Amino acid sequence: MLSSAMQKALNDQFNEETASSFIYLSMAAWFKSKNFNGFAHWFEVQAREEWGHAMKFYNYTFERRGRTLVGAVKKPPTDWKSPLDVFEAGFKHEQHITACIDNLVELARKEKDNATLAFLQYFITEQVEEEANFDGVVSTLRLIGDHTGNLFMMDHRLGSRG
Ligand SMILES: [Fe+2]
Ligand SMILES: [Fe+2]
Repeated sequence: MLSSAMQKALNDQFNEETASSFIYLSMAAWFKSKNFNGFAHWFEVQAREEWGHAMKFYNYTFERRGRTLVGAVKKPPTDWKSPLDVFEAGFKHEQHITACIDNLVELARKEKDNATLAFLQYFITEQVEEEANFDGVVSTLRLIGDHTGNLFMMDHRLGSRG
């Protein structure tokens, strides 16, 4: 059985993950509107992954005989200045999610909830990868600057994300 504090914390994280999915879908749509179809594809895949994260929290909560309460999703931003601006915002968002996961781990430790600690291991590892993915693209985009040809080469590269 989950404690009521843990039930609420897991539910909050479910809502953080659905919000992440909406943010990345909004970023995909921004790129699509600019004809950067590769970047758009990358963010569509990212949005699906975040939905998958939300469902992991959903399934885990029910496995522990809790209940997920689906909350309202905050309207995501819809406009950015440049591809770099989008990825910088994404990187910042992932750092926020890492902090959320760290807080969850803290709570699980405090409550000696070993099952939740084990469940959260996946997200600890996942957040390292998430931050590295965004950080990597940010670094490359900083090098590229406003060079249109290189931007479209990068767009092409990210379009191959499986
Ligand atoms: Fe996530
Ligand atoms: Fe993420």
